[in-house]
Amino acid sequence: MKMINVNTSSPYPVIVDSCLLKETGEYIRKYAPAAGKTAVITDDTVDGLYGDTVRESIRGAGLDVCTFVLPHGEASKNGENFLKILEFLAEEHFTRSDLIAALGGGVVGDLAGFAAAAYLRGIRFIQIPTTLLAQVDSSVGGKTAIDLPAGKNLAGAFYQPALVLCDIGTLDTLPAEIFTDGCAEVIKYGILGDKELFGHLKERGTGFDREYVVARCIEMKRDAVAEDEFDRGRRQILNLGHTLAHAAEKLSGYRLSHGRAVAMGMAEIARAAAADGTCSRECAAGIVDVLMQFDLPVRLEDPFEELYQWMLSDKKRHGDRINLIIPEEIGRCVIREYTLDKMESFIRCGMQYTKETGGRG
Ligand code: NAD
Ligand code: GLY
Repeated sequence: MKMINVNTSSPYPVIVDSCLLKETGEYIRKYAPAAGKTAVITDDTVDGLYGDTVRESIRGAGLDVCTFVLPHGEASKNGENFLKILEFLAEEHFTRSDLIAALGGGVVGDLAGFAAAAYLRGIRFIQIPTTLLAQVDSSVGGKTAIDLPAGKNLAGAFYQPALVLCDIGTLDTLPAEIFTDGCAEVIKYGILGDKELFGHLKERGTGFDREYVVARCIEMKRDAVAEDEFDRGRRQILNLGHTLAHAAEKLSGYRLSHGRAVAMGMAEIARAAAADGTCSRECAAGIVDVLMQFDLPVRLEDPFEELYQWMLSDKKRHGDRINLIIPEEIGRCVIREYTLDKMESFIRCGMQYTKETGGRG
């Protein structure tokens, strides 16, 4: 068992262990004391797999529990479901001493977290992430959101949970494709700041030590979030490969998964960094090779001109400047500001960087 304390404006622990779900009630008693009722917000797939265990545990700790179930998938992360959850809480007579438990992947966590931030101007919530992506990224750090017809995550709030329970046993039931998606984010952490983690992933592939890897990624996220809770500076480092990834996701109409888009974005940025001499060819090739080892894609297929238009709406852009995260070596990245012209030529060069010159893929 590992416990990681996140020192944000309201601090909270993240517990990483297997078989945690059946202890949910006890953890709520300890870390969200005096909670009256708990609303478990989940999706239909996760409810079928883990809903009963979580509800039994909460009841076993002497707390009332009710459940709101969403259809699984990104399409549920919308304004309509957000309002339905608020109505549900009101009908169940939830007060500020009650609690929301977000049980599921990033979709459930983002939506339930935003509902918790908005209902009565804020009630406590806990995250119980059940995908690899949600465990190493979305459940920690307090970014909550819904998608608008105009784009992903366009409405939301920074709102920290009271507790995060990462039960790594839940990863056993993840379809391979969804597990692999989370692996892209895990590899990202290795590139960002931990050579040893990167080496472990290279050596073990998808058979990596889950407790060590999940906890290590959370520690790195904790550090970025503690330094910059509201995403104005250092936290942007977590966005390695994301400017290109978000553009590719948008161009695909969100048929391309986030993890796969991030893998392609990181590979292209690594090639660009090698092409302009910021990192070595070996470093770029090492990044691309590990992504390929995990069966992740490493080439963006869209025409650059189309990607570029969407890159301009990146949240890290301010006026005619944009911040990109650039690898210098495995385990060390920098946030570098570019004019839009410079960014265009930087990325273009990377995308032209061929096998012959050391780029892989
Ligand atoms: P998801 O929540 O849609 O889960 C993927 C699928 O896996 C769903 O169909 C779900 O039902 C299923 N599932 C979940 N747990 C399972 C389990 N243990 N066994 C079997 N099936 C299971 O997707 P995701 O990849 O977890 O999250 C993506 C979302 O996270 C996006 O909306 C993205 O914007 C958001 N996100 C948020 C942050 C943040 O900081 N808040 C960071 C990254 C991503
Ligand atoms: N997922 C990036 C962040 O939380 O800032």
